[in-house]
Amino acid sequence: MIYNGIMKRDATSLPALDRRLCVAPMMDWTDRHCRHFHRHIAPGALLFTEMVTADAVIHGDRERLLAQAPEDVAARVCVALQLGGSDPARLAEATRLAADYGYAEINLNVGCPSDRVQSGRFGACLMAEPKLVADCMAAMTAVTDLPVTVKCRIGIDDMDPEAGLDDFIDAVAAAGVRVIYLHARKAWLNGLSPKENRDIPPLDYDRAARLAGRRPDLEVILNGGLDSVDIVMREVPRFAGAMLGRAAYRTPMILADLTAAMDGRDAPSRFEIAGRMADYADSRVAEGVPLHSITRHMLGLYHGQRGARLWRRHLGEEARNRKDGGGLIREVAAACEEMATGMAA
Ligand SMILES: Cc1cc2nc3c(=O)[nH]c(=O)nc-3n(C[C@H](O)[C@H](O)[C@H](O)COP(=O)(O)O)c2cc1C
Repeated sequence: MIYNGIMKRDATSLPALDRRLCVAPMMDWTDRHCRHFHRHIAPGALLFTEMVTADAVIHGDRERLLAQAPEDVAARVCVALQLGGSDPARLAEATRLAADYGYAEINLNVGCPSDRVQSGRFGACLMAEPKLVADCMAAMTAVTDLPVTVKCRIGIDDMDPEAGLDDFIDAVAAAGVRVIYLHARKAWLNGLSPKENRDIPPLDYDRAARLAGRRPDLEVILNGGLDSVDIVMREVPRFAGAMLGRAAYRTPMILADLTAAMDGRDAPSRFEIAGRMADYADSRVAEGVPLHSITRHMLGLYHGQRGARLWRRHLGEEARNRKDGGGLIREVAAACEEMATGMAA
């Protein structure tokens, strides 16, 4: 079914899940345009949506919240839908409704520390309630054949990071969860902003690795501070995979470098990726999507290259004024290409 340029798909048509390389759920960032961009860079990566609350899925504009870009449906891109909530029945209902949209996996957010999320009694504060999370997971698992997974921290506040995390994981595993995305730092729920909570509590990859070693029956995917190929390739042998958030967004070609390092698969060039995104923009802009809502995710494409500043400036400043589909992307990519090959000053 096609709706305003976005489309549902049949879950049975999805390939097996490969979680070695994942792009983290990021509110306001990993929307469907961003995911389309990332899938050109790393076709094998598992891409996450932004968090969507169970209530939004049940009561909101489902087509707008859940439907995928038709190109990604056709390419059978694997996307995990992240839900937020703490009511088992409502999470089950959201899972059931979302399963119609062909996601490869349904994930529950037990890692977000924002006040708004805490007041709804979900996100990281749920780490203190393993029984409730287990009930949520069991309810969700009961209504879908898709993998139902958790993304969490190694703890919150003064929770014991050894026993507390082990108890939490054992409870959700007993409810049938087999895959854990572990942001390897605590969330401090009082006093730190969500942004500070992504940087200030110290990372502890060894604690995450102890969990992976203690529960070899689970897939533990490491998240948090993975911002270079060297760090990922050093850590990933201890885990089932690596999940990158900010580095994937700000320096997206790290996903290409990781695909090459993990699989020996060559990624398309920046110029090719820009060309594919220009084609995508042609279709979306014709349907009424503002060009800026696509290009805003692409500003890091030339990061570290000659032309990076030109790319950021022109794409950032001019996209709001252009109505000609992907024309701007083509022009600026051609200019960057000339700079890279030394044909321009
Ligand atoms: C802008 C932004 C939005 C985020 N939104 C979510 C979210 O919706 N759900 C979630 O589980 N984590 C969210 N996170 C946390 C990331 O998924 C990830 O766990 C965190 O950034 C640590 O990984 P990194 O160091 O690779 O960025 C967000 C992070 C950022 C930067």
